[in-house]
Amino acid sequence: MIASVFIGMSLDGFIARGSGAYDFLPAGGGEPHGYDEFMATVDALLIGRKTFESVLKLDSWPYGVNPVFVLSTRTPAPAPSEAIVEHISGDPPDIVTQLEARGIRQIYVDGGITIQKFLRAGLIQRLIITRVPVLIGQGIPLFGPLSGDIGLRHIATRSFRSGLVQSEYHMECISGRCTVPPLW
Ligand SMILES: NC(=O)c1ccc[n+]([C@@H]2O[C@H](COP(=O)([O-])OP(=O)(O)OC[C@H]3O[C@@H](n4cnc5c(N)ncnc54)[C@H](OP(=O)(O)O)[C@@H]3O)[C@@H](O)[C@H]2O)c1
Repeated sequence: MIASVFIGMSLDGFIARGSGAYDFLPAGGGEPHGYDEFMATVDALLIGRKTFESVLKLDSWPYGVNPVFVLSTRTPAPAPSEAIVEHISGDPPDIVTQLEARGIRQIYVDGGITIQKFLRAGLIQRLIITRVPVLIGQGIPLFGPLSGDIGLRHIATRSFRSGLVQSEYHMECISGRCTVPPLW
């Protein structure tokens, strides 16, 4: 299974304010920056419970008919009737096993804590990060502690008129174990 991240963050590395607000991200994603194209590559979403709760506050369900797995150690809040949502729990390798058994080949992983756990487990293969030209000083970070370095291969960076800068990276080395020869 390929696990990908597609996320917006402030230039100083935060995906939301401490309150959970993400008002510093351009409304509706701002100008098109590849979200629809990315969504077309995934079979399902795997989101943390806190991301799920923030999405529930939106006026409409944003994921359409895409299956959404909500990670939580407890039963999540009810989803809107049109949403395809399932509760899932376990450590990251166990989650991958469960999703693969369901025939899922491409998953979109979202939520800061969730992404950090999957990164630490070496289970994210693709990162697409859109930096928003703002510093917010504090908030919910995208990245956190690791048990070892994760080497990344830079695939592409593109910039947008509004100031968004999007970079794609693929995993290369995790704690010295490299799947392809490192670039440096
Ligand atoms: N900038 C962006 O593009 C972007 C994207 C996504 C989210 N966000 C924002 O980020 C914030 C949420 O991120 P966050 O880092 O606070 O949390 P999160 O990753 O969305 O959710 C964390 C929760 O997920 C559950 N979880 C994670 N791994 C699990 C596992 N292996 N097994 C069982 N449960 C697991 C736990 O829920 P329980 O505590 O219930 O056990 C944990 O507390 C929101 O404000 C959201 O709006 C921003």
